[in-house]
Amino acid sequence: MAKKFFVKTYGCQMNKHDSEKIAGLLLSEGHESAEGINDADIVVFNTCCVRESAEAKLYGNVNSLRVVKDQRPDLIIAIGGCLAQKEGANLQEKMPHVDVVFGTHNFANLPNLIRNAGRGQKICEILQASPGVIKNPSTQRENSTKAWVTISTGCNNFCSYCIVPYVRGRETSRPFEDIVAEVEKLADEGFLETTLLGQNVNSYGRDLYGKLRFAELLRTLNKIDGIERIRFTSPHPRDFGMDVVLAIAECEKVCEHVHLPLQAGSNKVLKDMRRGYTKKDYLELVEAIYKTIPECSITTDIMVGFPGETEEDFADTLDVIKQARFDNAFMFIYSPRKGTKAAEMKNQISEEVKMDRFNRLLEAQNKSCIENNRLLVGKEIEVLVEGVSKKDKSALTGRTRTNKVVNFSGPPSLIDELARVKIKEARSWSLVGELNGAYKRRITCQL
Ligand code: 5AD
Ligand code: SF4
Repeated sequence: MAKKFFVKTYGCQMNKHDSEKIAGLLLSEGHESAEGINDADIVVFNTCCVRESAEAKLYGNVNSLRVVKDQRPDLIIAIGGCLAQKEGANLQEKMPHVDVVFGTHNFANLPNLIRNAGRGQKICEILQASPGVIKNPSTQRENSTKAWVTISTGCNNFCSYCIVPYVRGRETSRPFEDIVAEVEKLADEGFLETTLLGQNVNSYGRDLYGKLRFAELLRTLNKIDGIERIRFTSPHPRDFGMDVVLAIAECEKVCEHVHLPLQAGSNKVLKDMRRGYTKKDYLELVEAIYKTIPECSITTDIMVGFPGETEEDFADTLDVIKQARFDNAFMFIYSPRKGTKAAEMKNQISEEVKMDRFNRLLEAQNKSCIENNRLLVGKEIEVLVEGVSKKDKSALTGRTRTNKVVNFSGPPSLIDELARVKIKEARSWSLVGELNGAYKRRITCQL
């Protein structure tokens, strides 16, 4: 029988895209999407466990459904994704009102699990290995202009702080021709932008073809008519070869934006994190990117308070911020994840020191953001208009090729189109502009 479902997502773009696949699967089973949790018969929590804060949020939200479940015993509560993979049946022990627990490798089976839960069964199904990326998933995309495309799943790196390889399994590249076919289909359907997803995109191909094929993938996708912007996340600095730098520079649809997770600036901390590069390697890569792609925006992930991090180590992180001139950074306080190497390290850092470093990191990065944004004032930039601004309903909001948010006044008819916007004002996290006109769809690359 058709039921109404709501998928609540925690965490990264990978999880958001998995939720689109989950929604697609449930729709193809005849279920319908609900407006929110209150009018849903099935609630699916697609979880994250990369940091403690994401876990805490999930427990809070699921616990708050206990009363609802008492009133509506037919409500099906399912928990899937990374935390489910890590905790398995523990989740139902802690929260007995949860009907279904499913792991990261078996969401394709969710419709069956839900059917059985509807018959009153409590279910926990966790596969330990990946059956591969699902072929031709029926994806219910959130956006009609921008689309995520999975190029690989899992990770082989085992950075010492990170739980991802334990919950997402080994790196599994998706066949080259399947990715190309999906992007061609997206272009036919009118999508303008695609973001290629993987835990370590530039090692794409290693497991499947015995060689890295990420640069080749970018060049092939660049030839697909209709797609105007190609993005990817996230590359690993260690595997970022000049072939990829050159592909970004030469392919006009590949956006001038590289998200390059730094994590820390100190060689000692990087070594303890098992990152496989030094501060010098990282800065040389950054310089090579700026030199080859002068307009390029570089953003990063940085962590403070890794075990054993001294004031001197932290100074190295601040120094990289200064030298790399990041346009933006996701900044995190290290949180120990049970099962990882770093969680066992003896020299954990106190919460006060972590907080103090975090605040100083924030200040340094804010300075870098605003300095970079000020350089754009007076320039005309291509903006892909995403919608009406959340803060100011009379303004439109969109993103530059460098992934910066721009707010400006303009007609709603521009939504999902490329606009020419002159930048008038720089803020730390966004730009304010003035509409100069609409672009014709961009020409295809000459390469
Ligand atoms: N504590 C804090 N941040 C973490 N990240 C990964 N593991 C942890 C952890 N244990 C951060 C890294 C990664 C981003 C997705 O999350 O910076 O790049
Ligand atoms: Fe985690 Fe490192 Fe893999 Fe990124 S590369 S998912 S930080 S183990």
